[in-house]
Amino acid sequence: PQIRKFHLKVQYASATRLCHTKSIVTINGEFPGPVMYVREGDTVVVKVKNKVDYNVTIHWHGVRQFLSAWSDGPSYITQCPIQKDQSYTHKFKVVEQRGTLFYHAHVSWLRATVHGAFIMLPKADAVLPYPKPAAEHLLYLGEWWIDNVEDVVAEALSVGGGYKPSDALTINGQPGALYNCSLSDTTVFNVVRGKTYLFRIINAAVNFQLYMSVVGHSLTVVEADAEYTKPYTTNVLVLGPGQTTNVLLTADQQVGQYLMSATVFSPTPNPNVVPFPGTPTTAILRYEGAKTLLSSPSELALPNFPAFNDSLFASRFTTSLKGLSTYSSGFTLPQKVDKEMLFTIGYALRPCSTCNLSTSPDPHFRLQASVNNVSFLEPTSTSLLEAYYYNVSGAYDDDFPSNPLYPYNYTGVGPSNFFPVKATKVKVLEFGESVQIVFQDTSTFFFEGHPIHLHGTNFFVVGEGFGTFDAAKDTPKFNLVDPPSRNTVGVPSGGWAAIRFRAVNPGMWFMHCHFDIHTSWGMSMAFLVKNGQGVNETLPPPPPNLPKC
Ligand code: C2O
Ligand code: CU
Repeated sequence: PQIRKFHLKVQYASATRLCHTKSIVTINGEFPGPVMYVREGDTVVVKVKNKVDYNVTIHWHGVRQFLSAWSDGPSYITQCPIQKDQSYTHKFKVVEQRGTLFYHAHVSWLRATVHGAFIMLPKADAVLPYPKPAAEHLLYLGEWWIDNVEDVVAEALSVGGGYKPSDALTINGQPGALYNCSLSDTTVFNVVRGKTYLFRIINAAVNFQLYMSVVGHSLTVVEADAEYTKPYTTNVLVLGPGQTTNVLLTADQQVGQYLMSATVFSPTPNPNVVPFPGTPTTAILRYEGAKTLLSSPSELALPNFPAFNDSLFASRFTTSLKGLSTYSSGFTLPQKVDKEMLFTIGYALRPCSTCNLSTSPDPHFRLQASVNNVSFLEPTSTSLLEAYYYNVSGAYDDDFPSNPLYPYNYTGVGPSNFFPVKATKVKVLEFGESVQIVFQDTSTFFFEGHPIHLHGTNFFVVGEGFGTFDAAKDTPKFNLVDPPSRNTVGVPSGGWAAIRFRAVNPGMWFMHCHFDIHTSWGMSMAFLVKNGQGVNETLPPPPPNLPKC
């Protein structure tokens, strides 16, 4: 094991897309940010310096942060943000993890342009569960706004309702041939005919689940969220924001150029509500020896995608991913659970005198998202972890409900569903407890799946389905044999997903929808995992340079 040192400087850079130039927040002037390579077992030391006018934190999405909750990064959860000209040094170990993850800003929507790959190579003597590829490529999916993204979110929150959707989807930061002024900057992936490549795919989009496909080539999934899966071959991938997927692609077609493309998956039942952006992003898979010119986008065919609202396709894809092992960084799949919880996730409205929400019956309401009818109120003067560690009272309540405050009835939308409590509540877990959570989407206003992400541990996804979760009928069907281990689960629109994990990492762990707009509306909460009695069961004290609020 080595000590790997990195310097990440959060700084402005100018970028031109879609015929417009603007200033964006980046890491080291790069977008997407620099790739961080580490190896399982290494100690990672990252100095983050903030040179921009926004408060910033950096989160290592999916990194378990075993006994290093202070380095996790979500603002006001494990640390106060880093203010301008200040810095913070994260230090953590890569414990029993390998694969593709990414780091991103964890304040407001800054992650739109502040993100980069975090690749954990397996131990040097480890045996790969798939044939060694000839080479690998890194593919980021993302979104681009012509406007300043922080202005977009500020506007959305002040109006109280919808938000301005992005102007383009991107692959490696580029919209690709089908968008204005984008043809010549289209991302190219070079391959040699007959060879097999590993594509590390990261969905760094802000508010969209995406389909991804390559014309003429099948994709074999071998890893999801940095856990190996049984090989699964498909033509179309589904990735929620926050999810990462490694696939093998064999260049087995004629020498030529083929479009790789991603487009929105949005499970509204109304086929007339076409989601934005409606144009797929494209990149080019270019065989060695192929002509290198692309003069017009129509020169190449797009892949065949399922309908943008094909929930069944998405659920077939996710349930086809099976874990290779029922052991996931530090714990085995719990066959029995100590704590069973049901979390409803959905929207509600709250009165707001200054709002102007045109879609609501009364404009003086604002959209509010919630978990178990509690809409998360972000602290402002301390982080939750510090409040816990230093016993500061009043920063949060530890009575987050294990079940919805208003029992959820799929057919009845009662007024009680509309008025969530707005509060900072955490759920306390005792060290070592085995936990099961069923996420139930309520789709009270919109039909959207929710990519729910948990910090501090992966979890096993043991089941999912449509309609209202029925414990007696659905629990016996859980997959307790080879469920995938993930850090982000796509809860189907109008359906549910069930996860299990063991609480063996003391700290304060944020759980939220990885659609930033939903997190901004309050679809989040935090787990407080208490210390245990043993040697590796206690959260160490905070590092001396932890930022102050
Ligand atoms: Cu990808 Cu809470 O983050
Ligand atoms: Cu959501």
